[in-house]
Amino acid sequence: MNPIYLGVNVDHVATLRQARGKVAYPSPAQAAWLAESAGADGITVHLREDRRHIQDSDVKLLAQTIITRLNFEMAVTKEMVDFALEIKPAYCCFVPEKREELTTEGGLDVIKHFDTIKKYTERLQLNHIQVSLFVDADSNQIQAAKKTGAKLIELHTGPYAEASLDKNKDKNKSQDQELTKIQAAAKLANQLGLIVNAGHGLSYENVAAIANIPELYELNIGHAIVAQALFDGFEKAVSKMKQIMLDARK
Ligand code: PXP
Repeated sequence: MNPIYLGVNVDHVATLRQARGKVAYPSPAQAAWLAESAGADGITVHLREDRRHIQDSDVKLLAQTIITRLNFEMAVTKEMVDFALEIKPAYCCFVPEKREELTTEGGLDVIKHFDTIKKYTERLQLNHIQVSLFVDADSNQIQAAKKTGAKLIELHTGPYAEASLDKNKDKNKSQDQELTKIQAAAKLANQLGLIVNAGHGLSYENVAAIANIPELYELNIGHAIVAQALFDGFEKAVSKMKQIMLDARK
């Protein structure tokens, strides 16, 4: 089977720092360095418009110091596109931040915002930044993503992750239904020639079935790893996740 890569999202290291206002610790850049030494294939950050966790200075420092590749998640705005062009990450992933940019499940509404997304995608790709669109496992959104000219999509695994937390007796049924949707979406996107990533809500408990989808290229995982790192340390938390993913591909 193809390899599968792990992008470690360090946003929630910054969440912990921002909880205390002016302190400089813990450092997302230090977490990124440890993640890379433990086998992370990329580092992901989301610079939110309200700067609630990651700050502009974090992104600039990461862009200069990481040795893998930076996946910069951002809203579909001119401000963010201009910032991305300044720091030149390997990847930009457009994500929804406002309610009107969301589909019902929570991915980007590419159909509704097609012209803007296409314009910014072209601008970034002309500057050698690969663009990914965070979308639901929905064939119409995936077809629209392809038409923007973006080379990648990231499938929203949130509904699958939510179903995996459901403690009622239909838990497995809804989780299986969400998994089936992601499998079909990954297959379609792959047939359209897109590189297919996935992420959101993935954990040590639910990641194996997703990692086992052969068309998936990279999983972006943050919250579960940062939480586990409190007890195990960052390197162990990352390598444990990577190992589960690799084992699922055997
Ligand atoms: N992928 C995207 C597009 C996201 O917005 C997020 C959350 O910031 C993640 C992946 C990582 O999600 P989690 O922190 O739940 O692992």
